[in-house]
Amino acid sequence: MITEESVREVIDTARIEDVVGDFVNLRRRGQNMIGLCPFHNEKTPSFNVNPSRNIYKCFGCGEGGDPVKFLMTLEQLSFPDAIRWLADRYNLKLEEKEVSQEVRQERQEKESLLLVNDFARKWFEDQLYNTEEGKSIGLSYFKSRGFRRDVMEKFGLGYAPLQRDAFFKAAVAAGYKEEQLEKLGLVRNKRDFFFDRVMFTIHNLGGKPIAFAGRILKKDVKAPKYVNSPETEVYHKSDVLYGLHQARRSVRKLDNVYMVEGYTDVISLHQHGIENVVATSGTSLTPGQARLIKRQTENVTLLYDGDKAGIKAALRGVDVLLVEGLNVRVVILPDGEDPDSYMQSVGTTAFGDYLEKQRQDFLFFKADLLLEEAGNDVAARTDAIRSIGATLALVDDPLKRAGYLQQFSGRLQIEESLLVSLVNQSIADRRKQAQKEQEREARRQQRRGREDQRSAEPKGRGNRTPPPPPAAGEEDQWAGLVEPSWGDEDVPPMPPPELEDLSAEEPPQTLPDLPLLGHSHQEQHLVYLLIRDGHKMYDPEKNMSIAAFLTANVADVLGDFDHELYRKVVSLVTDYVRQHKSGPDANWYLHHPEGAIQELAQTATVSPYTYSPNWKEKYGLHLSQKPPEENQRLAAEIFLRVFRMEKIDRKVKENVLKIKELAVAGEESRLKKFLKLQSRLVEMRKQLASELGTVVITK
Ligand code: CTP
Ligand code: MN
Repeated sequence: MITEESVREVIDTARIEDVVGDFVNLRRRGQNMIGLCPFHNEKTPSFNVNPSRNIYKCFGCGEGGDPVKFLMTLEQLSFPDAIRWLADRYNLKLEEKEVSQEVRQERQEKESLLLVNDFARKWFEDQLYNTEEGKSIGLSYFKSRGFRRDVMEKFGLGYAPLQRDAFFKAAVAAGYKEEQLEKLGLVRNKRDFFFDRVMFTIHNLGGKPIAFAGRILKKDVKAPKYVNSPETEVYHKSDVLYGLHQARRSVRKLDNVYMVEGYTDVISLHQHGIENVVATSGTSLTPGQARLIKRQTENVTLLYDGDKAGIKAALRGVDVLLVEGLNVRVVILPDGEDPDSYMQSVGTTAFGDYLEKQRQDFLFFKADLLLEEAGNDVAARTDAIRSIGATLALVDDPLKRAGYLQQFSGRLQIEESLLVSLVNQSIADRRKQAQKEQEREARRQQRRGREDQRSAEPKGRGNRTPPPPPAAGEEDQWAGLVEPSWGDEDVPPMPPPELEDLSAEEPPQTLPDLPLLGHSHQEQHLVYLLIRDGHKMYDPEKNMSIAAFLTANVADVLGDFDHELYRKVVSLVTDYVRQHKSGPDANWYLHHPEGAIQELAQTATVSPYTYSPNWKEKYGLHLSQKPPEENQRLAAEIFLRVFRMEKIDRKVKENVLKIKELAVAGEESRLKKFLKLQSRLVEMRKQLASELGTVVITK
């Protein structure tokens, strides 16, 4: 760790105009300096540097701060790394506090491995530019591909000669340890890993060489076209994107990154002025790589070959990007071309035009592709739509997703509601999975906790401290609704937590067995009914929608809603009905500006209604009637009664308590009022219950 004094010294020394000046051309303007903002794309300068206050501020994009912040943002450095960068810039010596032996050793090891790699890079470059073999084989090859010297240097291109131990000998002679050369995969058994190939350096974000790739030049040999450094302490493939170091400034400025497959594509595009480009190196994208991008931009454009493999590649790994919340677009190049060849053949302007014209949203691209493949085959079409639904489900932002849903249903010529339910199914599946995973994790932790407790109290179970009281809203869990699961057999289950006797507070259980599932549940059911069927007709003669029927009948209990969101939805729908004389359909909810309502709508459209199989006896309905799941009017009526019943029940219970209280206090006049209310409530209840066909037991 760097000492506080050192940090202070660096911060006091660093001058904003120096640091910014290393990256941006600054012009003086009065007391300040201005230049083109490195954080966003602009043609007229709005980036201000104020030397007297030692800060910068962009009036275009709002970025601002001190020298450390500038480096951290622009160069993506951690705080300590920004301090190190500045110390280096001003030749200050940093005092480092003692860190643990291990940490220090690991850091030293990594640093020395990076130094070895840097030696290798220089050596490969030296071979390329300064040896006869390198010039005649390597350099002439790169030249034949049209690579300019400055771009070759920028990317650390090099040459590994034919002789199978040339590098090994040079490295050992320069004092590098064989063990480290092996660790980096540069050498095996005193023989070079890379030989007879042109070399590409793979940099980390900060620009240090962490790995290499070598391309074979001979044709018709069995050897692979590229060989790559293995995973090492300094190279974790899944967290690296080729070219990101060279691309990142342009990426931030243009707020978009092009993704190509090949090393040469990256280099070629750079040479032609497209610098916001990285390569996946022909493998599937990883979550680590997606996050790496997310830190620079939210917009990714895949740029792939027009052949089958290229198109497949475009489909592969994209899920990872969507999950990370990135906007993905795709450009497919003409068949037979890769970005490099196409750029070389048409030049920068035509290439840029092509990108503009052909760029399309990835999800539309995928949909078109799948549907085209499916043709008129119904089964294949269904599969395709399902697959599109699954991909759409990965779009986490509900607004974005709603936008897609709307456009898709037109494009795919399927009902939006069907697509919505497919998507929701997929989301529900994913949530379920995530929840399972969470529960598993919670159980693991619970177990760990118990083990800790046991080892802390060896005498154990007898004098166990009681579990902490449940926090608000957790009662359900404590009441045993969530079944404890003990995983490993050898861990004895804890005795269940002792619950307070809550029944004392409850009025005597005189109420009949009704299909009551808890307050919010009924409110939720109401809202689901509204979302799914609200726009349908309740009474065609009176032109009354289900929504109108339901909202009119719950208006008086709206104040008793437990759940704020459900209450809100119902009152919004009440307004809607008043204005439009009809009920909104599912789309209205799905595109509602409020995210919570959209989400509600998404869940509502997939969760099935549950009516008990013996609904006919239960609700005393005629055998000729269709079941509620096929009969919205009936469903609305049954539901409404149950709903009102539940609200009344609650009032009854509250009233009973109040009556007891007043009786004890001897408050006669108020007691009378409540008794009267009680008999009215019981009457209402009886009426409702008889409509529902439920027997009312009163005491
Ligand atoms: N690749 C690899 N190993 C291989 C083949 C390919 O690692 N045996 C990776 C490389 O990152 C390569 C990318 O996949 O850059 C794309 O492969 P390809 O299109 O064959 O190579 P290019 O980079 O286009 O090379 P060139 O233009 O020289 O043919
Ligand atoms: Mn190529």
